[in-house]
Amino acid sequence: MKIAIVGTGYVGLVTGTCFAETGVDVTCVDIDSRKVEMLRRGEMPIYEPGLAEMAQRNMKLRRLHFETDLTTVLPDVDIVFIAVGTPPNPVTGAADMRYVHEVATTIGSALDHYVVVVTKSTVPVGTSREITAIIRRQLQLRGAEVEFDVASNPEFLKEGAAIKDFMSPDRVVIGCDSDRAKRMMTKLYKPFMLNSFRVIFMDVASAEMTKYAANAMLATRISFINDIANLCERVGADVNMVRKGITSDARIGSKFLYPGCGYGGSCFPKDVKALIRTAAENGMSLKLIEAVEDVNERQKHILFAKASAHTDLRGKRIAIWGLSFKPETDDIREAPALVLIDELLAAGAVPRVYDPIAMPEVQRRYADRLEYACDMYDAVLDADMLIVVTEWKEFRVPSWQVVAKAMRAPVVIDGRNIYDPDEMRDLGFTYYMIGRATT
Ligand SMILES: NC(=O)c1ccc[n+]([C@@H]2O[C@H](COP(=O)([O-])OP(=O)(O)OC[C@H]3O[C@@H](n4cnc5c(N)ncnc54)[C@H](O)[C@@H]3O)[C@@H](O)[C@H]2O)c1
Repeated sequence: MKIAIVGTGYVGLVTGTCFAETGVDVTCVDIDSRKVEMLRRGEMPIYEPGLAEMAQRNMKLRRLHFETDLTTVLPDVDIVFIAVGTPPNPVTGAADMRYVHEVATTIGSALDHYVVVVTKSTVPVGTSREITAIIRRQLQLRGAEVEFDVASNPEFLKEGAAIKDFMSPDRVVIGCDSDRAKRMMTKLYKPFMLNSFRVIFMDVASAEMTKYAANAMLATRISFINDIANLCERVGADVNMVRKGITSDARIGSKFLYPGCGYGGSCFPKDVKALIRTAAENGMSLKLIEAVEDVNERQKHILFAKASAHTDLRGKRIAIWGLSFKPETDDIREAPALVLIDELLAAGAVPRVYDPIAMPEVQRRYADRLEYACDMYDAVLDADMLIVVTEWKEFRVPSWQVVAKAMRAPVVIDGRNIYDPDEMRDLGFTYYMIGRATT
């Protein structure tokens, strides 16, 4: 079986590499020729654990190829995945579908045999119908009569664990309205079914909706626990204890109930916005989801609020540990650290930042407006305060004596509640957390 994956971002590159690993012949296509050149050299444009090794192995076995022109790839493939970005429109919050539509136009302009076109990008309900209409229009313009189907196969991988999530998914959701497309998708996902992973077939609209509903649910849990955490602080309760108390209930469970400084990344913020927009377009307001977004926006300011309540920040050097939106990725899209950095700069502070992987991304954005440290201990040198934003493993058990010696003032604001307050007090730190009393 031969397939094409259009878009070599976090989703497209992982999807292509993992399908190649199962023996499928995969061509990944991207309009970014710089990226394609890098990939052909075996260099990864993104950081994702395990990806480089798997991609290089499959390239050597000639099962994984990279191209810039979809029209030259199309004649040879049975399935085309669309995995391009669907970023939010800055004004309306709706998913910007221009890249998906461009790919559909290209497919229609060159299609010469039956293929299944599969949307892997997160797209609003109704997109598969739009893609069908665009391809049909292009075929009509060429006077060509070619059959095709459009299916939906939303992706649920988590950045930082993308390879594992793709190879051992909790479930695979496939929306198909034709038997022929269903047979092709079944063949492609057969290796995953052998391992008895669940493949759930449904209609296209339900598959499209499933992705938004899943992300909205997870975002809701995060905003819920953040709201409870803030109230805990007001009433003198400890959110860690409350968390233990509620998550021991099997109906509630423990996942995605960690208080922090808000969710970020390329998915939750954009998908929550897009879902609200879809509801509005259909004459509904999703009050709960709107509140989830409001709570998250507020939560992204919480670290700055704590820092500025502690001291006048003008001229102060503030160390920041962790910049990516979560550990094990270099992705800084919508990262809470960016909100904090912007606020610190506006207040006249001097952020001195460190992240194990995301430094180049942050450097591209802020250039010489920040101080860039070469490691976590270098970051706290002469710092008036340390703020922990992303809970990378290497920050879990720091040598506090070294940190205390390096800092001008022993103040730590922990946006992820990862340290022991008693230990921090004994070490002489003023230690702020989320949803727990300061020690
Ligand atoms: N990142 C995640 O964790 C994740 C998880 C699940 C779903 N998704 C969804 O998957 C989609 C892709 O996300 P991503 O994070 O991989 O995006 P990304 O921005 O990292 O990558 C998109 C890629 O598409 C390429 N592209 C754009 N237009 C193109 C065209 N016409 N032809 C070929 N290539 C083109 C870009 O150059 C870029 O390399 C989005 O809809 C996103 O919501 C993302």
